[in-house]
Amino acid sequence: MRRRIIAGNWKMNKTPSEAVALINELKDLVVNDAVDVVYCVPAIDIPAAVEATKGTNVSIGAENMYYEESGAFTGEIAPAMLDDLGVKYVIIGHSERREYFAETDETVNKKVLKAFEHNITPIICCGESLTQREQGITLDWIRMQIKIAFQNVTADQAKKAVIAYEPIWAIGTGKTATADQAQEVCAGIRAVICEIYDAATADAIRIQYGGSMNAGNAAELLAKPDIDGGLIGGASLKPDFGKIVNA
Ligand code: 13P
Repeated sequence: MRRRIIAGNWKMNKTPSEAVALINELKDLVVNDAVDVVYCVPAIDIPAAVEATKGTNVSIGAENMYYEESGAFTGEIAPAMLDDLGVKYVIIGHSERREYFAETDETVNKKVLKAFEHNITPIICCGESLTQREQGITLDWIRMQIKIAFQNVTADQAKKAVIAYEPIWAIGTGKTATADQAQEVCAGIRAVICEIYDAATADAIRIQYGGSMNAGNAAELLAKPDIDGGLIGGASLKPDFGKIVNA
């Protein structure tokens, strides 16, 4: 039985003091022992967020990190820096990073390997554009993204990974994939993991859906057999997030 994981992706929202205020506002709403709850927050908010969630059921994640240990990479954040602060998860390869910051499947793979080296759980994002969906290549595209993201990742590491299926056309648009569409792709991702590794690994890995998930549609999406959680943008900044955790 896979443990559910509901993660907020705050994106570029909330100053450190606003982050603390939101964490305190959500504190009682997100209590649920059966679910892993994660807030992936802007890097600058991490120290305050770790402090504000101490002693609660919430873990803190980062939204990105670099794949080198240290050195002349102005503006980047190293995995050891995140680990030192108590960060447990990191989003890797969000479609916004791919679109605006030129991330590729290859850099995603390097970051995934680095995250595992530092015992930080990667939340590996994949997803198709509207054009790709209309061209009928969704599963082919995602298969390629997953195969590259998992190059040289061992089965033991893959078992601990989280994959987020986020159709790009559903992000921030209010247009959610139907539960059947989301299930079809999440099952497809699990089949690719089975093909790369084995059934035990495919059975263990957790797959989230992301893209306009909210308090109204979460229960239906989360009822699907291959959807083990959600990666939530807009609705993670509101009390609604507690309803998603408890859905
Ligand atoms: P929205 O929930 O705002 O559509 O964002 C989804 C997302 O990109 C989470 O990573």
